[in-house]
Amino acid sequence: MNEFDLIIIGSGPGGYVAAIRAAQLGMKVACVEKEKSLGGTCLNIGCIPSKALLDSSEHYSMVKNKFSKHGIKVSGIELDLPAMLKRKDQVVSGLTQGVAGLFKKNKITTLTGMGKLISATEVEVKKADGTSERFKTKKIMLATGSIPTSLPTAPFDGKRIVSSTEALCFSEVPKTLLIIGAGAIGLEMGSVWNRLGTKVTVVEFLDRIVPAADKQATTELQKMLTKQGIEFKLSTKVTKAVNNGNSVSVQMEPAAGGASETREVDYVLVAIGRKAFSEGLGLETLGIEKDKLGRVVINDKFETNVPGVYAIGDLVRGLMLAHKAEDEGIACAEIIVGQHGHVNYGAIPGVVYTWPELAMVGLSEEECKAGNMAYKTGVFPFLANGRAKAMDEIEGFVKIIADAKTDRVLGVHIVGPRASDMIAEAVLVMEFGGSAEDIARSSHAHPTLAEVMKEAALDVDKRKIHM
Ligand code: FAD
Ligand code: NAI
Repeated sequence: MNEFDLIIIGSGPGGYVAAIRAAQLGMKVACVEKEKSLGGTCLNIGCIPSKALLDSSEHYSMVKNKFSKHGIKVSGIELDLPAMLKRKDQVVSGLTQGVAGLFKKNKITTLTGMGKLISATEVEVKKADGTSERFKTKKIMLATGSIPTSLPTAPFDGKRIVSSTEALCFSEVPKTLLIIGAGAIGLEMGSVWNRLGTKVTVVEFLDRIVPAADKQATTELQKMLTKQGIEFKLSTKVTKAVNNGNSVSVQMEPAAGGASETREVDYVLVAIGRKAFSEGLGLETLGIEKDKLGRVVINDKFETNVPGVYAIGDLVRGLMLAHKAEDEGIACAEIIVGQHGHVNYGAIPGVVYTWPELAMVGLSEEECKAGNMAYKTGVFPFLANGRAKAMDEIEGFVKIIADAKTDRVLGVHIVGPRASDMIAEAVLVMEFGGSAEDIARSSHAHPTLAEVMKEAALDVDKRKIHM
């Protein structure tokens, strides 16, 4: 009864998807989760609640700012924040219960409690009531995810200096919110509260927002977000943040040094990245190797230095993204049963769910330059697309980077409406090793936003039609 083929520790998108795939492949699987609900960071305090609030706040903003242009008069618009937060919680609970349902369907055992490695074939689960139980297993997969990185000059206090977890459930609309970090969390949570009426300031240490993305795209996004009312302070560092009870005093100065400025704000959201989480997991007992950033070291088969113990997702190297964790979970389960699971790290999309959205896959132009690669680009704006005009969503563009000789697509960057859905086409083309010409010669339904992708592909060969 207490013996399994595979025990997975952590039920985030990495762990729960791996559990389902392993069960499909015939393994007897258990998944250990320390929290009450399944789904990890992504479903409980990450991707899902943030997107629920992003959608709700965008509806609010549309009614206020865009409906009149469509000929719709609305009066007496009122924000019902408790209802908005309740809907977000309902979306989360529906999905986490959905994972429990999938576990049941796939005969996966849920072990609720803190998982700890005893050996490469034994896991201890400590329950909330203090009791613990041990389980034997043939293989172990670690999927314990990540937690927010803290900033020594602005330490989390859970009240006024907070992480994304608290910023997803402020019970009032803050008058002012200072966000440290212009990455995915900073821009998404900044957009939510800006739309609901908060004066948002984003402080970024580097000289640009979303530093890993293509600069042409992020420069455009910054312009749009500034127009929406978000203030950016780039090349700036926060040197001190003090909670005064009802507000926070924030001291900041140019990153390179110089005169400092103090601001009084309602809340500070620290969003400077996340770090792998393995506290209490018992890695030391087995001598499992970690790198300098605290990530579990794995080989190309997701196996740690201890045979039979595997690791995936935010706990290991690479992008901290839910779909990357899922893809690794599936590949790892397949490798464990002797199949050839594989993740193409060159074609993992990234999206920042602002409005307009930023979506990317593959290399940025800066990376192509740094690698001395011969490349060509094609760019097409939404402004010249019929559907975008019909929607009145004309900001942004699609940019395709292709190999100068072979025309193979190296990277695609979109800033614009529904970029998150549009990027899937680019991912598929890159998975198949396709060219810009492949996109250009494929029929794209008219009138759709996807035609902007086709026109950008035509522009790689300098033969766009509608401009
Ligand atoms: P996690 O989801 O972190 O899950 C790990 C699980 O392990 C947790 O449930 C934890 O409780 C459990 N655990 C840890 N230690 C133990 C233990 N010893 N015993 C038992 N259980 C344990 N990514 C996207 O791709 N798209 C997005 O839109 C997106 N939005 C995000 C928004 C926010 C605000 C945040 C914070 C993150 C977002 N992410 C997004 C990132 C995404 O959530 C993570 O990349 C993803 O959840 C990683 O999955 P994982 O399975 O590796 O780990
Ligand atoms: P991030 O890595 O995306 O961005 C952090 C930003 O903070 C960077 O721009 C960095 O230069 C800046 N920074 C670092 N130290 C700083 C300092 N001391 N002062 C000022 N700025 C500083 O991390 P973020 O936004 O916290 O997100 C954490 C993780 O969650 C990321 O890996 C991200 O991929 C993931 N996530 C993904 C989302 C998505 O896919 N849409 C949404 C939210 C989070």
